Amino acid sequence: MTNPVLIEARHIAKSYLLPTLFLRKYKDFFTDVDFRIRRGEIVGLAGPSGVGKSTLGRLIIGLDEPSRGEMLIEGIPASRWRKSHPARMSIVMQDYADSANPSWTVRQVIEEPLRILREKPKGRAEELLRAVELPESYADRYPHQLSGGQLQRVCIARALAANPEIVLFDEAVSSLDVPVQAGILRLLKKLHTPDSTWIFISHDLCAIANLCPRILFLGEGKVVEDVETAGSSRVRSRVATQLLRSVLPFETEAKAGKVAPDGTG
Ligand SMILES: Nc1ncnc2c1ncn2[C@@H]1O[C@H](COP(=O)(O)OP(=O)(O)OP(=O)(O)O)[C@@H](O)[C@H]1O
Ligand SMILES: [Mg+2]
Repeated sequence: MTNPVLIEARHIAKSYLLPTLFLRKYKDFFTDVDFRIRRGEIVGLAGPSGVGKSTLGRLIIGLDEPSRGEMLIEGIPASRWRKSHPARMSIVMQDYADSANPSWTVRQVIEEPLRILREKPKGRAEELLRAVELPESYADRYPHQLSGGQLQRVCIARALAANPEIVLFDEAVSSLDVPVQAGILRLLKKLHTPDSTWIFISHDLCAIANLCPRILFLGEGKVVEDVETAGSSRVRSRVATQLLRSVLPFETEAKAGKVAPDGTG
């Protein structure tokens, strides 16, 4: 049985006011973003730099509002869902060094969502450190006493501490070197549970393909392609084809001359 839809983007547009002196000029980043994500899915969000992946991520978790259209979680606006479900969604960012308070111990960092929920931690920090494959003794260290990869594991532990329903990973492995990335991707596969929905944003298609069974390709102001990773060798849009060509040794349909004349499929 397929799970119910959890996140729904309905024809979203997003524009920003450009800082010009005399004219009020708007720039559209999205004109019509439309997709559905079911509970328990891990969905990759791919696209070239500057296409709006992080902007869309913020809309999904209700930190920003669309200019037009609706971003819904369980049928209500994402920003409202966020307020009524404290600590039920979390984010893992690229800049792990800035996202952990340097004056807190690792235990305090990991337990932050539990404090928001006023839950008793009861050994949760140690349990989570084991889950992210770090020694329990690290609970009493400070962020500057960990390597980048170790600190990102701590940030993942914090993100998962309150068993969130939605986790947004925005370039979460992008600033780590390749072997450390591989270790964290393996760890994430192990940590995902069927009741948690993950959105994994990256410009690194290899990382996305490694973790996510489904990929949304963003380009030209919308989702240009929505594919199962296993079938991604059959992508047709120009954006997806170019991204795939740049990283994967797939025989894309474009290579075989089957891409639609307008490049969008
Ligand atoms: N608050 C804002 N005001 C004006 N422009 C913005 C704002 N936030 C983002 N932008 C612009 O929106 C565009 C999309 O940015 P975004 O960070 O979402 O791209 P991205 O796909 O995540 O890029 P990257 O892969 O480099 O992280 C960029 O051109 C950026 O400058
Ligand atoms: Mg980004």
